[in-house]
Amino acid sequence: MYRFDLIIPVIEYSSTEELDGKYKNIIKSAYDACSTSYAPFSKFCVGAAVLLENGEIIKGSNQENVAYPSGLCAERVAVFYANSFYPAIPVIAIAIAASVAGVPCKEPVYPCGSCRQSLLQSEQRFGKNIRVFMVGSEKIRMVESVKDLLPLGFDFELGW
Ligand code: THU
Repeated sequence: MYRFDLIIPVIEYSSTEELDGKYKNIIKSAYDACSTSYAPFSKFCVGAAVLLENGEIIKGSNQENVAYPSGLCAERVAVFYANSFYPAIPVIAIAIAASVAGVPCKEPVYPCGSCRQSLLQSEQRFGKNIRVFMVGSEKIRMVESVKDLLPLGFDFELGW
C-alpha cells in the first residue's frame, strides 16, 4: 500500500488585464451569455464561452426546466453546440462566469462534475487541451487542461 497525492496546477489572475486578448474576449462573452440564461428557479445566471481553434467564439447559458434534471448547464450548452456545429474543429478554451440579479459573482465559477466529464470528452476527442477560465469579479482561476479538474476520470477504454 502506498499513498500518492495529485496536485492541481491552478493559475490565478487578479484581473483580465493580465490576460491575452483572446482570453479577455471569451471572458467578456461569458458575461454577455449570462444575459441569455433562463434560470427562473435558481435565479443563478451562468454564462459560458468556448473558443475554437479557428478563433470563433460560441456562447451558451444555463437553461432550467420545471423538471429540474431536464435543464442544462451553460458549459454543456456551449460545448455541445460548438462540437455539433463544428465537429472537426477543436475547442481550445472555455470561460465560465455567473451573475445574480445582474450582479457578477465575486468568486470564480467552477464547472459541475457532469460538465467536467463532458468537457473532458471534448478534450480527448480532439487530443487538444482545453484551458478552463473560471471567472469571478475579484479573481480568475485557470487550469491548462480539463484533466486537471477531473483527475482519475471515468473512461471505459482504460484498464482492461
Ligand atoms: N449551473 C451551470 O450552468 N453550470 C455549472 O457548472 C453548475 C450549475 C447552473 C445549473 C442551474 O441552472 C444553476 O446553475 C444553479 O445550479
